[in-house]
Amino acid sequence: MILYLHSIQDISVQYETGDLPVLVLCSDGQQYICKYMRPNATIAYKLACEFMGALFADAWRINTPPFSIIQIKPAHWASISTPHSYSAPAIGFRKIDGVIDITPTTYQQVKVGKQALYQLLKIALFDFWIANEDRTYNNANLLYQLETNTIISIDYGGILNNVSFDYPLTQLTETDSILCADIFAHISCHVTNEQLKDAVSHLQKDYQRCLIRAKEQTLQLANIPKEWNVPITKIQAKANELFSDKWIEDTWTNFVECLKQNSNYGR
Ligand SMILES: Nc1ncnc2c1ncn2[C@@H]1O[C@H](COP(=O)(O)OP(=O)(O)OP(=O)(O)O)[C@@H](O)[C@H]1O
Ligand SMILES: [Mg+2]
Repeated sequence: MILYLHSIQDISVQYETGDLPVLVLCSDGQQYICKYMRPNATIAYKLACEFMGALFADAWRINTPPFSIIQIKPAHWASISTPHSYSAPAIGFRKIDGVIDITPTTYQQVKVGKQALYQLLKIALFDFWIANEDRTYNNANLLYQLETNTIISIDYGGILNNVSFDYPLTQLTETDSILCADIFAHISCHVTNEQLKDAVSHLQKDYQRCLIRAKEQTLQLANIPKEWNVPITKIQAKANELFSDKWIEDTWTNFVECLKQNSNYGR
């Protein structure tokens, strides 16, 4: 179920990352990192990608922050100079505490083992499936919760080949995957070939279940806010591509190929 909230306080923080998201205290008493409509032709489609990516990541049971649709009250924008829409709602991701960003300088803090291996492989496969071009070497878009050893996926603003609604989906190039980043080398070099093989075989079965759960969630795409003016037909067409047999099969092949190039898998 999608949660609808509103802001209850002035925006206190603006992040300096690409989308200039803002931190908002909301009517459920939680803080959300919000991405919002701006006077820019492509932003609405990017927001729709955030919605779709978060919906499907959750259906896959990937650790990802819960999201909601948030009406930020006009008065609460006072301290923010970035142009924005006052009327269209934002998409907000619940702020997770006790996390660090996984970067080329922090990845060594991730505790190696089977848990981290499986979480990362699953996120990598999800990225191939959803054609996420925004999780790469320098920009992992991953958080790590130190206390629970949880790798958390964020930021779906680059899915569907970086928001390409007018062309058919294309498979990621190998270097677009998190499997090429230091974090994966760090984890995979500490597991045995046997453990890697077991994880991949488990993931192959899990993949089918993930797709079934994701498909069940496609009805929720109708809840993409109307104010973003993204035709539902365009969203539905992309969903259809994602669930085509050929795409599902090619995704797996491509994932395994990438894995072979970046680990001992298959040797
Ligand atoms: N749910 C969350 N809990 C805690 N911190 C978060 C959460 N979501 C995002 N952040 C923090 O905010 C930063 C920016 O988030 P995000 O990557 O979604 O924004 P962006 O502007 O789309 O980034 P990019 O530059 O990759 O386009 C993250 O790197 C992280 O530090
Ligand atoms: Mg990001």
